[in-house]
Amino acid sequence: MIRQIFLLLIILFSLSKVVFPQDSLFIIPKPVSMERGNGHFNLTRSTVIEMGEKDTGIENVATMLAADLKKATGFSLFFKKVTAFSDGNIHLKLYRGSDTLIGKEGYNLMISSKGADMTAATPAGLFYATQTLLQLFTPDIESKSVITKLAWKIPSVRITDYPRFAWRGLMLDVARHFFTVNEVKQFIDDMAKYKFNVFHWHLTDDDGWRIEIKSYPKLTEIGAWRPNRVGTYTFFQHPAPDEPNTYGGFYTQDQIKEVVNYAAKKFINVIPEIDVPGHSLAAIAAYPNLASFPGNYRPCSGDSTMVWPKDGPFYALFDNSLCAGKEEVYEFLDKVFTEVALLFPFEYIHIGGDENAKNFWEKSDDIRQLMKKENIPSIHQVQNYFTGRVEKIIRSKGKKAIGWDEIMEGELDPETVVMSWQKTKGGIEAAKRKLNVVFAPTSYAYLNYMQGDPSIEPPVHSTRLLKTCYETEPIPDGVDPKYVKGVQANLWTEQIYNYRHLQYMVWPRAFAVSDWSWTPANRKNWPDFIRRIENHFIRYSYADKKYAPSMYDPLIVVKKDSDQELTVQLENQIDGLDMYYSFDNSFPDNYYPKYSGLINVPKEASLFRVISYRHNKPIGRMISISIDELKKRSN
Ligand code: ACM
Repeated sequence: MIRQIFLLLIILFSLSKVVFPQDSLFIIPKPVSMERGNGHFNLTRSTVIEMGEKDTGIENVATMLAADLKKATGFSLFFKKVTAFSDGNIHLKLYRGSDTLIGKEGYNLMISSKGADMTAATPAGLFYATQTLLQLFTPDIESKSVITKLAWKIPSVRITDYPRFAWRGLMLDVARHFFTVNEVKQFIDDMAKYKFNVFHWHLTDDDGWRIEIKSYPKLTEIGAWRPNRVGTYTFFQHPAPDEPNTYGGFYTQDQIKEVVNYAAKKFINVIPEIDVPGHSLAAIAAYPNLASFPGNYRPCSGDSTMVWPKDGPFYALFDNSLCAGKEEVYEFLDKVFTEVALLFPFEYIHIGGDENAKNFWEKSDDIRQLMKKENIPSIHQVQNYFTGRVEKIIRSKGKKAIGWDEIMEGELDPETVVMSWQKTKGGIEAAKRKLNVVFAPTSYAYLNYMQGDPSIEPPVHSTRLLKTCYETEPIPDGVDPKYVKGVQANLWTEQIYNYRHLQYMVWPRAFAVSDWSWTPANRKNWPDFIRRIENHFIRYSYADKKYAPSMYDPLIVVKKDSDQELTVQLENQIDGLDMYYSFDNSFPDNYYPKYSGLINVPKEASLFRVISYRHNKPIGRMISISIDELKKRSN
């Protein structure tokens, strides 16, 4: 009997090795439903990518898949249209009939030893199926050079998948720091891999005007350039009068078209943002008459432009607002938006509207006259008047407007969309007013904030941990989901000087954004998410892409005990880590004291060091923090 039970256990164990548990896959965003089968599909150099003969518009999907597969496998796969699919190949097919479940962007994917079958209602759906397919390979599929193998295995699986939100955006600010066309394309490539579909391009701000406007050439001749500064942005000196403008850049209209076409091939819409009336110092430096108080301005060079007192309204140090009381401002915007509307096929244009200081408007004769003429009772309502005029301009170009929370202070065109950024307050209010909302709040969707302990992260004024980003439910309580157009994360680049650091700030938090913008809320599972992203870290290593390992680093919380003595509490975002520490200035390893609860800081110590280990291997980075700094935190 014992022998039989033993044999049964062996059989069960070996079966469990054949029928993989479904969570041994690592797909981001997590598919709606997945069922593992037996065996696998072998991709070899003779595999063909077959397309349904009558399916139009999918050659692009096949071409991109072949190119993606070629990098690591070295295989130059043929692709062709066929009347009937043959076994052992990749099959791309547009759905005939209706499958209301998968909708416009969903897909079905079935891998077996007979082939890799993908069906969808649209080329976009098929494209997403191919992105999932790529993630079913081992991470070395992301290698930039050829890895010699006769066959590349994909596990058998049946997936049905479709997105939760129609708008799945990432915003990139190219005004504070400029990113080249090639870098923007890389950003778009990574968005596409994780099924984002809106690239929000923040093209103008106080620090730079980055889009060529042929009717106003000085916008880029002057507005795109400033002195080069390196260090901690926003704390620099104002440029000296003779300081040369050596930093900057802009996109020509041809380059804009190139990026828009590139993104369209990957089923990504590009929404341009022209941020007005505030955040406009670069435009005003080029055309000073656009301001209430024309002067000799320069684009912001990382010096302080705005002041945010704890009590009282924020104000601008330079007149960085387009003057709502001047007709020439609306003529300017009409011409700018005419050119912008022609460059971007997407139905929306972002008009900004955020953080418009009113202190120069308050002193302006033009604004005073406007208020009298239009019977506008307060300076705040001047911005509502301005927003109304800009909405009309946008509508006259055949587009719809979208703007940050502040556009909502007045009445809005019912087609205008609110992008909710000041926590979720604005979005909740907008939905109550039956306006459509894209949630992109500071509380969980600002990727420019620090992602770990401030003692190790490049400094920014606030922190959003990966766990905070992941665990948030993007639709706040009480909001009718029918008004939620979608979700987005934003990357402001004041402190991001180069593309490698951009990647560090975006990944892995954008994996979390990808998951909650696509996957049903009830599929959320933090340990499973960590397991998946660690697989993508390996993919990133093969692809030479940077990501932040911050989730492994300890978080340091300083407290005073009942005797007012300093104590340190260590926290982690993920389970299964051990933390070793020292106060004697040396580098702790796994032979040092292991954290097991509140630590008393020795009286004479001057430095605290701590590092995370997993399975006796260092995994986090060494954090060093002076006791003086700990004391500051305890106050
Ligand atoms: C914003 O972060 N000012 C939209």
